[in-house]
Amino acid sequence: MNSKAELHVLFDRHEIETAVRRLASEISKDYRNRNPLLLGVLRGSFVFIADLIRHLDFPLEVDFIGLSSYGSGTQSSGKIKVVKELETPVRERNVLVVEDIVDTGLTTAFLFQHLQRLKPASVKLCTLTEKPSRREVPVNIDYLGFTAPDKFLVGYGLDANQKHRNLPDICYLEGEA
Ligand code: PRP
Repeated sequence: MNSKAELHVLFDRHEIETAVRRLASEISKDYRNRNPLLLGVLRGSFVFIADLIRHLDFPLEVDFIGLSSYGSGTQSSGKIKVVKELETPVRERNVLVVEDIVDTGLTTAFLFQHLQRLKPASVKLCTLTEKPSRREVPVNIDYLGFTAPDKFLVGYGLDANQKHRNLPDICYLEGEA
């Protein structure tokens, strides 16, 4: 992205806070007394999961997995690789995957296959945003914050070439890229 791209707020920090509280309430109903493992997908989910778990007032554990899709440019090649493996044994555990965004769905599809081999008791998905118009493989979203238009989103953990993750609002970039 060059300097001519402009930032516009799509979901501001107050809307995000409301969505995070709602998601935490939904998750609490389903996971209280089940000691879930919340699995954040690095890097984008780190802001969301940090806010989310502070609204969950029951025992849980947190771990992270680092995934990257490799290929050329900004288009996903569909080839995902694990760049940081999770460290918690997940056999017989109730795992809740926490994502910042589901776009093509390829990352989630890969991760669910990867986790199923580890024989968890259950795996569900919570994502703050999704872009249904971009989906290439079906993904079942159990807990959803926002449906987003097909725009380049940044902020609240989301990046453009590693920049803008620190913005407190979710914004879109428009203009020359
Ligand atoms: C983003 C996001 C998801 C993935 C979703 O990660 O965090 O993991 O893309 O896209 P998909 O549905 O098309 O697979 P990204 O690869 O940009 O890395 P990051 O988390 O380090 O920003």
